[in-house]
Amino acid sequence: MTGASTYSGLVDETFWLILGSSVIMLLGITVTMIYFIIKYRRSQNPNPAQIEGSKRLEVLWTVLPTILVMIMFYYGWAGFKVMRDTPDDAMEVTVIARKWSWTFDYGNNVYSSELYVPTGKPISLKLRSDDVIHSFFVPDFRLKEDCMPGRENHAWFETTRDGEFTIFCAEYCGDQHSQMLSSVVSIPEADFAVWLEEARVPLTAEQIMKIKGCVACHTTDGTKGIGPSYQGMWGRTEIVKTDGELREIVVDEEYIKRSLLDPMADIVEGYDPVMPPMAGQITDEEMETLIEYFKTLK
Ligand code: CUA
Repeated sequence: MTGASTYSGLVDETFWLILGSSVIMLLGITVTMIYFIIKYRRSQNPNPAQIEGSKRLEVLWTVLPTILVMIMFYYGWAGFKVMRDTPDDAMEVTVIARKWSWTFDYGNNVYSSELYVPTGKPISLKLRSDDVIHSFFVPDFRLKEDCMPGRENHAWFETTRDGEFTIFCAEYCGDQHSQMLSSVVSIPEADFAVWLEEARVPLTAEQIMKIKGCVACHTTDGTKGIGPSYQGMWGRTEIVKTDGELREIVVDEEYIKRSLLDPMADIVEGYDPVMPPMAGQITDEEMETLIEYFKTLK
């Protein structure tokens, strides 16, 4: 399968070079070994001969492998350099990973749960994580880069054709690791401009919950997930653990906002403290939208 990024060919070249030379060496060594086993078998050589060293051979098996690994190094380095040097004119998108979803931040309050990009334009990625280590992996682009809590990583790509390309998380990050999927959607530049324009409108509660990753753990139909369901939550009396003490609260606006911004403050009894804080990632307006929506989930 051919890749869909401008540098995928470089990665494939290096891969086939290393795989090819490994297969040739494996075959060569195995055949020579079998040949020697037969040729120097005990029945034909009852008295072992004393063999002195050979300078020519010593030099040969030092120099040849050195040249071979230097060739591998050259291809590896040349490809790596291209992948690490982001072009200056690249469009910047911030990738936010969390348990267990992806958010793509285009700036100017544009967020998406799929990575829309214009085909044939370089895209610069700033990668970070809200909680544990995740890894942004797009096999079609031959691109894999870790998302780390507490530091920013970078990567870039440029697609060579329109299409939808799967994004995986390639770092084991807990229960729903295998479900941490999304797509890069590469579309013509004109269509991308339209998409970006439409993405600027205020989000609905459903969109917010998808983009912020809420739906990975919370349902809206009463089903128990990693976290409590939103259904019937509004106005309910709940037992929560605060600073190790159980207490009773009523789910109101203040409680919901605190639970979004600082989820560790009150943990609903029977659930694990696993939610990443949304402080700095959700606007007041978005919280209001969510609260209005929660009120409708009777
Ligand atoms: Cu995120 Cu695995």
